Amino acid sequence: MSLTERLSELVRACFTGLWIESHEHDDALAEIAQLCRSEEWRLATWNIEEGLKLLGHEAVVDTGTNDPLAAIRALASFPASEQPGLLVLTNFHRFLQSAEIVQALAKQIAHGKQNRTFVVILSPIVQVPTELDKQFVVIEHDLPGREQLADIARGIATELEELPAGAEFERILDAAAGLTRYEAEGAFSLSLVRHNKLRADVLWEQKTQMLKKSGLLSLHRGGETFADLGGLEAVKAFCKRSLRNPTNRAVSVRPRGILMLSPPGCGKSAFCKALGNETGRPTLVLDVGNLLGSLVGQSEANIRQALRIIDAMAPAVLFLDECEKAFSGVSGNGDSGVSARLFGSFLSWLNDHESDVFVVATANDISKLPPEFSRAERFDGVFFLDLPDANQRQAIWQIYVAKYALDAAQALPKDEGWTGAEVKACCRLAALLDVPLVAAAQNIVPVSRTSAESVEKLRTWASGRCLSADKPGIYQGATVAATGTRRKVARDPSQN
Ligand SMILES: Nc1ncnc2c1ncn2[C@@H]1O[C@H](COP(=O)(O)OP(=O)(O)OP(=O)(O)O)[C@@H](O)[C@H]1O
Ligand SMILES: [Mg+2]
Repeated sequence: MSLTERLSELVRACFTGLWIESHEHDDALAEIAQLCRSEEWRLATWNIEEGLKLLGHEAVVDTGTNDPLAAIRALASFPASEQPGLLVLTNFHRFLQSAEIVQALAKQIAHGKQNRTFVVILSPIVQVPTELDKQFVVIEHDLPGREQLADIARGIATELEELPAGAEFERILDAAAGLTRYEAEGAFSLSLVRHNKLRADVLWEQKTQMLKKSGLLSLHRGGETFADLGGLEAVKAFCKRSLRNPTNRAVSVRPRGILMLSPPGCGKSAFCKALGNETGRPTLVLDVGNLLGSLVGQSEANIRQALRIIDAMAPAVLFLDECEKAFSGVSGNGDSGVSARLFGSFLSWLNDHESDVFVVATANDISKLPPEFSRAERFDGVFFLDLPDANQRQAIWQIYVAKYALDAAQALPKDEGWTGAEVKACCRLAALLDVPLVAAAQNIVPVSRTSAESVEKLRTWASGRCLSADKPGIYQGATVAATGTRRKVARDPSQN
């Protein structure tokens, strides 16, 4: 529902205290003014610099206009009329520390029900004082949709050769999704300055910066593919299948995402990065640690903003790495329930979001995650990535021996219980020190040895509960991997 639709509904229902959360005040004001004109409602605006203005009047009306209290009182003196009258107060959250102002607002909002006057606060954050909590309804000013972005693009690229058509234009809109109107305008203009036409790569660059600035999300657009990962066949197939675009189905089912569990270094993060590339979607990485802002209350605003950007960027893959770290405090009481509320907002988004966002969450320790998180239906599948077995390790050796240009005929070290990360580290060391793999292996201490107990605990927990990442079906405990004698990267054909 757009800002104007929501506003018009609430005004008709006579909600006289309205709080609009918006980062783009000029656009929000333009939309409100448009609504008031078409409905013939009265409109006044106030901000600290320009004071009080009535719609249709150029001049400042009240002499004491810079006084926020006078602005609120001016509303009470609006002549009685059947037509609703709106007073939009910009950045008014700054003035709500004053007891006098809070009191005047409370009185005015109550009084507004009789003379149909409405207090509308326009602010980038929602910070309603407790006294006014029940009197305000919050409206979110959504980020521009595809149509609006297309309009902005057409407004800026006015020459025919500046505006690409067809699929290229669609790609530009994909790249612009998630930007505010202001940011989109800037990015389109920059593209024209640089290349004399709109180009998706300039938009992606701007968007990466914008996300970095927000401090919560970052964008990953690398070239990794599933071929760079040995094993994990079942989870690869599962995701590819659920993210294909079915055209022949009567009912379209929106995929939700997966939860991946494994000991460290088994390729969870690498998998997620490759998934975006494989399915042609941008991968958004949500920094759950940063989400818990230092100020109480700020983290909820943070998550709302992040979720809004994520929705606007669909279709996308959302990567939620090491989520047990952010949500582990949920049942604790150290932070006065902030993470519990945060967790609640996130869970409801996970359930309800309509946007085409595929969530990949990872965890190393399920016991720290609240049980609600992994219950059935929340995710399409909960996968366990076990330490790779002998065949998978063989595949991983092949990948990294080739990547680091090592001698493929050399003997491989004993790699029982090694993760993909350890195989990679060994190859890297061999290349760095220019020694055989067997010698480089002296420097590797596998996680399965340093954290043997926690790996075993995780395996026991996952057995019978999670899907196997390697073979279709439920994970049934560690299979004893065939150790075999010394092997080579390139299999000896005489052994077949
Ligand atoms: N199956 C695999 N095939 C190829 N490379 C792998 C595999 N598993 C892990 N790696 C490599 O090991 C490195 C570490 O893996 P990654 O960061 O994905 O592990 P992780 O499961 O996310 O670990 P953590 O739990 O510590 O975050 C990466 O560079 C990755 O490419
Ligand atoms: Mg990781």
